[in-house]
Amino acid sequence: MSHGFPLSVFFLPFWLLVFFSLVVFLLVGRQKRRSGREAGLLVPPGSMGLPWIGETHQFYSEDPNVFFASRQKRYGEIFKTHLLGCPCVMLASPEAARFVLVTQAHLFKPTYPKSKETMIGPWALFFHQGEYHSRLRKLVQGSLTPEAIRRLVPDIDTTVVSMLESWDGRSITTFHEMKKLSFDIGILTIFGRGMEEQCKEELKKNYYIVDKGYNSLPNRLPGTLYSKAIVARKRIGEILRRVMKERRRRGNIDKDLLGVLMGSLGGKGNLLSEDQIADNIIGVLFAAQDTTASALTWILKYLHDNRKVLEAVKAEQMSIYRSNEGGANSLTWAQTRSMPLTQRVILESLRMASIISFTFREAVADVQYKGYLIPKGWKVMPLFRNIHHNPEFFHDPEIFDASRFTASPKPNTFLPFGNGVHACPGNELAKLEMVILIHHLVTKYRWEILGSSNETEYGPFPIPKRGLPARFFKISSHGDEHHRT
Ligand code: HEM
Repeated sequence: MSHGFPLSVFFLPFWLLVFFSLVVFLLVGRQKRRSGREAGLLVPPGSMGLPWIGETHQFYSEDPNVFFASRQKRYGEIFKTHLLGCPCVMLASPEAARFVLVTQAHLFKPTYPKSKETMIGPWALFFHQGEYHSRLRKLVQGSLTPEAIRRLVPDIDTTVVSMLESWDGRSITTFHEMKKLSFDIGILTIFGRGMEEQCKEELKKNYYIVDKGYNSLPNRLPGTLYSKAIVARKRIGEILRRVMKERRRRGNIDKDLLGVLMGSLGGKGNLLSEDQIADNIIGVLFAAQDTTASALTWILKYLHDNRKVLEAVKAEQMSIYRSNEGGANSLTWAQTRSMPLTQRVILESLRMASIISFTFREAVADVQYKGYLIPKGWKVMPLFRNIHHNPEFFHDPEIFDASRFTASPKPNTFLPFGNGVHACPGNELAKLEMVILIHHLVTKYRWEILGSSNETEYGPFPIPKRGLPARFFKISSHGDEHHRT
């Protein structure tokens, strides 16, 4: 999922931004005054920054953690700001996140920039709420349950093993490699094993063009990243239509996500349209790829930086490796579910990295929360990262301590996959990828981080600086390094 502000807006001609902001400022100001007068409530405390521009400059020039934390310290768990022409209310408490995402979710709709909707396709489930959303969600969720994904274990296993083999002795950019892995597993989940190599390559090529244009200025002039991405997005639509046609010719019997979507009704007794299916397939690929790749990259970094944790995880994985005759037998589904320490390391990595730092909704009506008014039309942002790094809920939050997950976190304090009607349906698949990667990595490889640094980049998801360049070496089952000749 992409939960960053539309960076592109930053590059709009300044006067256009000022004009746009002024209109929004005046409209919202009127709305606020009218609603506030009627209900006698005030909007939350906070600074709306400079007229028109709000606090956009600070948001982009400060470390986002500092931006949120300093305001939370000053104003408390709920505060207002103004970013990129939008008045926003930020919510940094578990109760507030639950209010927006779960108990009063009907009062807050998903909100994305138009350019993103055009790129992914307007029928993708995360742009919707209500009936269409819940119907689509059941289908997507149904193909990602533990029962549905357990059949993927052997294929994920093979994909991970061959990726690691290809790294032996090489320097790589971890995040780029992890993107390839999460893409391949996304394809496997959606299309099953049967996708032709040529078709997959064509899809991949165009998908990467879309990926590059996704966070660029939405400028349709020929030659821009955005316009190339729009053309590639059309080509993906054509490829998917061809795949669907071929499936119909064969008789659609596959139980993968494409099969499920093709066999399902979209309302009024009609099957989902080809556009609806294509938008949701691209939506799932997008939601799955960078998020999972970022999490996998952070896991490698945390294991590298915490040697004792690495040794303990290795001991847990080696006992499985030995029981599989030194890797001669493949990892089983049951084994992936019984790695308690590894599971805790994954949860702690998700907390520390907080890949989706926050999400956006928009109030569909004037809403009251704890005596404050959230005016209709304002953006609302539950701040997952602040909750995950609040010492009230996680003692010494900046310390990597997997043992904290020996007990369950307090309710609504651990939200790496969100909460409520839009919570991540892919969370089990993401965790499955993580355990399989960790198993093969720690039992057979050693790795060094090149130019080690603790800086984070946002693109828009947090990743270690420069995507974590690293070098990998295969070790023998006795722990010695293989010497390549
Ligand atoms: C570590 C990896 C992942 C993380 C941290 C993550 C996180 C999230 C979060 C926080 C949301 C909710 C966003 C919101 O409420 O606005 C979400 C939604 C979603 N995720 Fe994930 N995700 C991950 C992997 C995946 C995978 C592997 C898939 C699919 C195979 C997936 C598919 C989706 C979809 C389709 C939605 C939209 C659900 C809806 O709107 O109903 N995600 N994800």
